[in-house]
Amino acid sequence: MTIDSIKTVAVLGAGTMGNGIAHVFARAGYYVLLRDVEERFLQRGMETIGKNLDREIKKGKLAENEKGTVLGRLKPVTDIAAIAAADFAVEAVPEKIDLKRAALMEADRLLRPEVILASNTSSISVTALAALTKRPEKFVGMHFMNPVPVMQLVEVIRALQTSDETFALTMQLCEKLGKKPVAVNDAPGFVSNRVLMPLINEAAFCVMEGVATPEAVDAVMKMGMNHPMGPLELADFIGLDVCLHILDVLHEGFGDSKYRACPLLRKMVAAGWLGRKSGHGFYSYT
Ligand SMILES: NC(=O)c1ccc[n+]([C@@H]2O[C@H](COP(=O)([O-])OP(=O)(O)OC[C@H]3O[C@@H](n4cnc5c(N)ncnc54)[C@H](O)[C@@H]3O)[C@@H](O)[C@H]2O)c1
Repeated sequence: MTIDSIKTVAVLGAGTMGNGIAHVFARAGYYVLLRDVEERFLQRGMETIGKNLDREIKKGKLAENEKGTVLGRLKPVTDIAAIAAADFAVEAVPEKIDLKRAALMEADRLLRPEVILASNTSSISVTALAALTKRPEKFVGMHFMNPVPVMQLVEVIRALQTSDETFALTMQLCEKLGKKPVAVNDAPGFVSNRVLMPLINEAAFCVMEGVATPEAVDAVMKMGMNHPMGPLELADFIGLDVCLHILDVLHEGFGDSKYRACPLLRKMVAAGWLGRKSGHGFYSYT
């Protein structure tokens, strides 16, 4: 497989990340088979892509007459058999091992043997996911950031089994998407979450211990460290349940107490205070 032989890409999952990934591939000229399990999820994903393209037009990043061309490259499908035509595939189904296993094994069975299969997992071992397939050397992690059309970074995660060719081609493909790929070896939390989540956790400890209010913690980090968003604002945006889950993965993966989740964070998740999506987190969104 060479970079120029990739024309059609399958994206599994049309949710938050999947529709963003489909968007950037279609924008870069690739044909995209966007697969989800139900029509309504595809419809919602396509609507989001339409809105995000409009936003790019407003910002002058996309010509108005190009929107139709980009949308025309996207083919929403529920029939999994359709992905057999893909030259590259990215999985973005929910972060649940049973769903990942089912989706990856199905894709592995349908895709041509030379096709690279990438996962957008944010916390599951890419090495363990590669081992579920019959193409472990053609398996790689492609950790896009949310919102995908806006964020430059893709952490390209090398599983123990990933071949040099697979890795190099995936890095090249990210460049073709106009992204900035960064090479990272497979380890719990990769680099992004291993560095970010302890920051968020420590910010939560500051609030729990009464050191400062959420507003004050975020103000220190924004004005003092030039972070565009405070860590608690960011935690609310990511979802406190997602943050807690990743901290638990780091804690278990390293067996190191420095990753122990802040009890306040755990309590807030138990209360259903998940951040922006639930209307309440470190801040209120009513
Ligand atoms: N949301 C984020 O900020 C973020 C950031 C980086 C990475 N990730 C990772 O991206 C992946 C997807 O997360 P998300 O936030 O987009 O989830 P999401 O719940 O928004 O979307 C997942 C979609 O996958 C669909 N789906 C379920 N089973 C499927 C199958 N077998 N085939 C095709 N589609 C299927 C669901 O119907 C849903 O529409 C996860 O692994 C997550 O850890 C998320």
